Amino acid sequence: MRRFIALLLCVFATMALAEARVRRYKWDVKYEFKSPDCYKKLVITINGKSPGPSILAQQGDTVVVEVTNGLVTENLAIHWHGIRQIGSPWSDGTEGVTQCPILPGDTFTYRFVVDRPGTYLYHAHYGMQRVAGLYGSIRVSPPDGVAEPFAYDYDRSIILNDWYHKSTYEQAVGLSSNPFVWVGEPESLLIQGKGKFNCSKLSSPTLDPAACNATSPECSPYVLTVIPGKTYRLRISSLTSLSALSFQIEGHNMTIVEADGHYVEPIEVQNLFIYSGETYSILFKTDQEPSRNYWITTNIVGRDATTKTPPGLAVLNYYPNHPKRAPPTNAPAGPIWNDTAPRRAQSLAIKARQGYIHTPPPKSDRVIVFLNTQNKIDGYVRWSVNNVSFTLPHTPYLVALKDNLHHVFDQRPPPDLLHDFKNYDIYSVANNKNATSSNAIYRLKFNTTVDIILQNANTMTVNNSETHPWHLHGHDFWVLGYGTGKFDPDNDPKKYNLANPIMKNTVPVHPYGWTALRFVADNPGAWLFHCHIDSHFYMGMGVVFEEGVDRVGKLPPEIMGCGETKGFKKP
Ligand code: C2O
Ligand code: CU
Repeated sequence: MRRFIALLLCVFATMALAEARVRRYKWDVKYEFKSPDCYKKLVITINGKSPGPSILAQQGDTVVVEVTNGLVTENLAIHWHGIRQIGSPWSDGTEGVTQCPILPGDTFTYRFVVDRPGTYLYHAHYGMQRVAGLYGSIRVSPPDGVAEPFAYDYDRSIILNDWYHKSTYEQAVGLSSNPFVWVGEPESLLIQGKGKFNCSKLSSPTLDPAACNATSPECSPYVLTVIPGKTYRLRISSLTSLSALSFQIEGHNMTIVEADGHYVEPIEVQNLFIYSGETYSILFKTDQEPSRNYWITTNIVGRDATTKTPPGLAVLNYYPNHPKRAPPTNAPAGPIWNDTAPRRAQSLAIKARQGYIHTPPPKSDRVIVFLNTQNKIDGYVRWSVNNVSFTLPHTPYLVALKDNLHHVFDQRPPPDLLHDFKNYDIYSVANNKNATSSNAIYRLKFNTTVDIILQNANTMTVNNSETHPWHLHGHDFWVLGYGTGKFDPDNDPKKYNLANPIMKNTVPVHPYGWTALRFVADNPGAWLFHCHIDSHFYMGMGVVFEEGVDRVGKLPPEIMGCGETKGFKKP
């Protein structure tokens, strides 16, 4: 009998472990006037907030988000950044790739499983909509009884963002005009949705006191209140539309322990470099003089924003000091914006944590070299990959591929290597006259291992090469290596780190450098791979991979209704 009870208890215990929950959210998305940096403008909110509500779940849970598009005159799609969507490729939220946009007034339900613990994000994925403030965080905790490889007392999250006063439309129209109008550097940097623009910078004819109010509580700095003598885990994510950032906490060193949902071999840093689409967890100790507060600060690196964009500031408030009490010091200055050496060094230093290493397949089946260039196509400024500037079709790829609609996108495969890559000078001003716009895609053989080499080059400006954070949907990839200069296909692969590479979903390619990635094409669907800088992707900096689309289950009719899928019946 006792044995039977023991067995029964055992069965119940495993049932409890395996019992995943459903986390339901109901979101109303609309435009509202907000002043996140004191300047009033239209902001997209979720249930009245930007950043939107955080999704908190446990590994194995199913997240169900019922989104109602209240934008009145604008389409919508929401992407769950870092969630691989295994078995639910139609819930990836990429308009034009995995679904038709959600029309104004319509409700769409995203449903997906969060299969790994870690720090993830969500954001709009329709046009340049993300810039308008639709974003938030997803935190997935490990299953009950599974310990993480580090200890902390409290767990907190913040999202870093850059902020523009021009609307999404002004930005998008400028980028797609001839003559070209660049978006420029942001007006401010936001920490967890709060920043500070200097209202006196507005020229007097436009200065309406209601439009910029430096004393508005909406733009008081974000306050992180801490108890002295504790260890904090801080999840830091970036969803900037342009800027690469440095992040630091005055007087406190940070230990990086997680990146994009994977445990990192701990590294202590004074400042963290973070690119759009990346997430990190750091640990810090509240071991400084407790009678005062400290600055939390973020600065732009990689672009010269010194005269335009002030640093983003938040307050580390040591309890019981008053949260509004400003720290007695000046915020620490950021690193020199154009010094790429420490940024490369951080990229190289991040390795998978011992005991949590997923070893990559030793060899790849296919190598694709993506040369990143800026071009002019028919007089318009574009970004291209192997001389192809990406455009989205009217019919989402997932539907087109599954239903064999061959005429809705260019069926000719784009090149795995630019035909004259060997002779391409990455240091000279780009003038690729042969660049074209196309919606062609890369089709990968199911379950094969693919290497991607991101090769950076000079832009159309002399002595200029930019940093591009590339993000892959539907997968994590191994980061096998970074290099400076031009990738050498004969010798560089010999230096790949196959022993303890970190897995990520977003990775930078540094100026004039290359980055090598490996992933297994084992997730049936159509997946975007693109530069996470909004304006770059909008100008064509992306590709789409198809893999195992014949294995995708029946598509939900909710994703249809646009392009050639118009006839398909919406429920
Ligand atoms: Cu977070 Cu396609 O992006
Ligand atoms: Cu880019």
